Amino acid sequence: MYRCFTSTGRGKIGGRVLPLHTRLFYQLNKKCLKETALQRQRCARFRSSSNTTSNNNNKADDELIAMAFEKHYKIRSNIELLIQDYARKPIQPVTFDFLTKYRPPLKDTEMYMLSIKTINLLLSYTCRQLDAIQALPYIVVLNPNIEISNSLYLRTLETLLSIDYPYGIQNRSAMARMLTQFLDEHQDTLVTLSRGFQEVMEFYPKESVFKFLNQHLRDRIAMKLLARHYLSLLDQSKRKGPENMIGALHKNLKISDLIRQVSEYVNDLCFVKYDHTVPVSILSGDDVSFPCIPTHLEYVLTEILKNSSRAHIEGSTADSDLTEKPIEITVVRCDNELQIRIRDFGGGIPPNVEDKMFDYSYSTVTEKTNDTGAEAYMIPGEDINNVSGMGFGLPMCRAYLEMSSGSLEIQSLWGWGTDVYIKLTGPPL
Ligand SMILES: Nc1ncnc2c1ncn2[C@@H]1O[C@H](COP(=O)(O)OP(=O)(O)OP(=O)(O)O)[C@@H](O)[C@H]1O
Ligand SMILES: [Mg+2]
Repeated sequence: MYRCFTSTGRGKIGGRVLPLHTRLFYQLNKKCLKETALQRQRCARFRSSSNTTSNNNNKADDELIAMAFEKHYKIRSNIELLIQDYARKPIQPVTFDFLTKYRPPLKDTEMYMLSIKTINLLLSYTCRQLDAIQALPYIVVLNPNIEISNSLYLRTLETLLSIDYPYGIQNRSAMARMLTQFLDEHQDTLVTLSRGFQEVMEFYPKESVFKFLNQHLRDRIAMKLLARHYLSLLDQSKRKGPENMIGALHKNLKISDLIRQVSEYVNDLCFVKYDHTVPVSILSGDDVSFPCIPTHLEYVLTEILKNSSRAHIEGSTADSDLTEKPIEITVVRCDNELQIRIRDFGGGIPPNVEDKMFDYSYSTVTEKTNDTGAEAYMIPGEDINNVSGMGFGLPMCRAYLEMSSGSLEIQSLWGWGTDVYIKLTGPPL
């Protein structure tokens, strides 16, 4: 059974040539379901044909369990082999070319092709995530928080395979439901995973953890982008009006508007945690617009402003109140490159921290600072909206920016403040 999944042919359904792996996954899914159904029928026959004495019944049950286990084991092994096989295949990266190929409103054929591509890519990414988790040492996989992530990806695989192929793919509301569910289910995976790795970090070499996380988190970003892009295109195609967006991509986002929104949000968080806020001043580039993925830039700006605001608030003393002093932002566009400098005066980053600040799970937050009591009113599980403490902010910003050929550089003047340079490359639109 496994051999047929390694062939490289291409299948035709509905007159269209389709990428092989959707068809193969579909076949595997059907085969597994069929085998399980056959197994159930065989078991029922075995039971009714066996003798009715209790001794014979026990023997029949034992044989039944052995048979069920063997079949079940075979099915599981086949799925695992398949996951490994697909995990090793190269995945087409989610580039700007991919994101701008179909523009709203999408024709039916375009929507169909996008659906196939999205499902195929999500399947490949899911297999890669599962394979990487399963390749981690036993002690790591045993961690309950990491096991939650593993189960979640298994569930995603199951959901993706449950789509009735090819007609289910044409059902837009079923696709939308599935991708919305995927985004909901994976919303908190970063918190779960970061907790898990914080717990196992001391038993497992740092380099291996970072290698795993670098790939895992980039793949997670790509998966979420694929789902969000699909849902946005679907929505934009329904509206049929003039659009600023191509799926998840904004054609010309006014950067200062986004900065103001993010600053407001960060100040809300700071107010809850510290009872203080920090002003932000845009020194130059108030009118700059740029084509980019707003959710990604929003993430990066939020993390950087959270760090700067924390430095201003925690660095304030009786003699100098830094919460009055604005964080300064400069925005510059040069053709299809956008540069943003965020300058704070929060005292800079200590040299011993500078070496480690891009490490996963590295944070100088050790305990609750100036607890205002307001956090008691936060819903449990909402601690992702905290100002700091997970130690994932900076490495995640790098991952987001590097995905669209951008970069993040930090220059700190210890005792004075920190400059963060964000660079983004835009798509040629
Ligand atoms: N602007 C800054 N000024 C001073 N220290 C900073 C600044 N930015 C980052 N740091 C230091 O770098 C560390 C790592 O930052 P990072 O954003 O990755 O994690 P964090 O803020 O501790 O937690 P979170 O994952 O919630 O962002 C911080 O704990 C802090 O000590
Ligand atoms: Mg941070």
